[in-house]
Amino acid sequence: MRIEDPNVVAALSELGVELRCSASLAKLTSLAIGGTTDLLSIRKHESIPGLLSLLDSRGVPHRFLGGGSNLLVDDGELPWVIMQLASPDPDVVLEGNFAQVDAAADLGRTVTYCAKHDLGGMEGLIGVPGTVGGALRMNAGAYGMQIGSYVREVTLYRAATRQIEILRGEQISFEYRHTSFAPDDMMLAVKLELPSKPYKEILQGIRICNEKRRSSQPLGQKSAGCIFKNPPGASAGRMIDDLGLKGLSVGDARVSERHANFFVNAGKASAKDMLALIADVRQRVRSAFSVELEHEVVIWNA
Ligand code: EPU
Repeated sequence: MRIEDPNVVAALSELGVELRCSASLAKLTSLAIGGTTDLLSIRKHESIPGLLSLLDSRGVPHRFLGGGSNLLVDDGELPWVIMQLASPDPDVVLEGNFAQVDAAADLGRTVTYCAKHDLGGMEGLIGVPGTVGGALRMNAGAYGMQIGSYVREVTLYRAATRQIEILRGEQISFEYRHTSFAPDDMMLAVKLELPSKPYKEILQGIRICNEKRRSSQPLGQKSAGCIFKNPPGASAGRMIDDLGLKGLSVGDARVSERHANFFVNAGKASAKDMLALIADVRQRVRSAFSVELEHEVVIWNA
């Protein structure tokens, strides 16, 4: 989708929003899959209500992109423009046991930054790619912890009120890979309360999680993490593995040899290839186990 109307281009510049023409989503997602569209880079949170009014009044469809690490985007020219937050400097500010973190901050860097200041709790999230905003929306978790446990306040653009609001932690429900945020709410910043722990101790936890992850997940390959949520009481990865599907491919989209719930782009996979592989695996799991696997990865079909 192209923004060509000079009035819209001028209004964007007045809002301080940078327009990048014809950005490749393949370059902005960890799966390295996705077509092209115009990208709007937002430097100031305050410009968001004005930006959305502008896009809506001009009938410009839009989507909000976080770190692109849990996302499968369609091929070709995309029918929406993409908005993305630019990361401020600094993106983490500490005060006692509280960390005020911008949604665009890199999750891994945030975990290590807090650790260096003797704030722990998030060791399990080390190695989870993406931004803090993405982790928050999905309630990212690993090795027995989830980010939601530490959330005290969230600053967000609420689609329902078209305003920037602050929600207290108790007003948000955090469940397994699911939160009560509306689909078009935009995460802007979060206040975390983290337990004090000596850096050395946190580092030990980080090393253990890193080691576990390295031995069981295809970290060097292009993926979107786990494709399916685990069904209650079961493991999607184990079910897919039990069916002997590691290595199953459609084009360059492949079920990882290392972890069967990771599907990797082994070369030049298209969204079409990846979607066909997902549908095929889902169908086989349904036939064998009568279980309907639910996507964990977010899918943007054009
Ligand atoms: N397993 C297999 N074969 C495989 C993969 C796993 O037999 O190919 C078995 C393992 O041996 C283990 C069980 O299945 O007994 C569970 O596997 P694992 O410990 O790897 O955890 P998981 O349930 O597959 C979940 C999260 C991961 C997170 C890990 C570690 C989901 C969908 N996945 O994976 O999160 O990193 O636990 O806590 O909840 C993600 O969300 O994208 C993600 C990767």
